[in-house]
Amino acid sequence: MLVHTEGPADAKIMIVGEAPGEEEDRVGRPFVGYAGRTLDNLLGQASIPRYQCLITNVARERPPGNKIMYYFEDSKCTIPKPKLAAWIDKLASEIRLYKPNIVIALGATALWALTGEKKISDFRGYILPSTLVEGTKVLATYHPQAVNYDWKLYFPTVLDLRKAKRHSEFPEIPATTQTFVPDADVKQFVAYMEEIIADDDCTHIAIDVETVQPGSHIEELGIARSPNYSMSLMLLRGKAPAMPEADELLVWQTFTKLVNSDKKIVMQNAAYDIGVLWCNNGILVKNLWMDTLLAAHVCWPELPRDLGFLASICLDVSPWKSKLVRTKSYNPADAANTLGIALVLDGEIDRQ
Ligand code: URA
Repeated sequence: MLVHTEGPADAKIMIVGEAPGEEEDRVGRPFVGYAGRTLDNLLGQASIPRYQCLITNVARERPPGNKIMYYFEDSKCTIPKPKLAAWIDKLASEIRLYKPNIVIALGATALWALTGEKKISDFRGYILPSTLVEGTKVLATYHPQAVNYDWKLYFPTVLDLRKAKRHSEFPEIPATTQTFVPDADVKQFVAYMEEIIADDDCTHIAIDVETVQPGSHIEELGIARSPNYSMSLMLLRGKAPAMPEADELLVWQTFTKLVNSDKKIVMQNAAYDIGVLWCNNGILVKNLWMDTLLAAHVCWPELPRDLGFLASICLDVSPWKSKLVRTKSYNPADAANTLGIALVLDGEIDRQ
């Protein structure tokens, strides 16, 4: 049977699943079966009262065998058949009518319908603009049925829902406040490092290197002076040096001064970056203040610790890590977000 949207018209949160399952088909209500019970549990952990949410699905009728592919023309599930296209239009009109502050996409189908993206593991936990209804704020997380099959997704999903709850208080998508300067010229980069050294208000910096194989040669060096400002310098273009030797020497001499100053240095997986700087460039970073990978492991041993995951739960930045959205600012974004994460983890360590 058709399973319609349920919940109060003034809900701040709309929850969108994939399609009704067997129980939902029998009862005519969304999320009342096994996945629904897990959803209730997850919402409870995030202090989101289910009865205050609008709950719906992309497809409004159970597909045969619960296979959502049934509603698509193609095996990659990107071209909806007319029936599904009509339901997606209906979803759009319901979002326009009810104007929830946030729409929570449960799983890849809802993520795709609302934002055009497909890779739930890359985009979950980030605030995304809807491509279905412009101006609508979307946060995707794992589908409760995926949590049923893989229990390690439970806590990330709870954290995503807690973030969604915070964001349900207002409709605005946070404006980007970050400035990244990728591929700076040598003079600009050296001046930037000198400025940081001289600036007593700049107490913490994050450093990130991109390397190429074989040999782990440093291709790009990124430095953040705040979670909102970072700059990077290309040292290699392909396999060739990006600058004359004298310029590169000046870069590394200034960098050595910087890492030997009193700045608190942050890195993600510092064992690698410090090793490369030491083995390839003879620069020893002695006063590391925090390795965000280790700090995250200390705080949340059961959670992933890659930068993309940590940013999704600690920060309000856009999803820069996915190969699908990578730009020239990848490295400076890594550096700035490493610093942002470090400041959150510092508070979390104190709290714990
Ligand atoms: N799974 C969904 O995506 N929706 C439901 O309503 C139930 C299970």
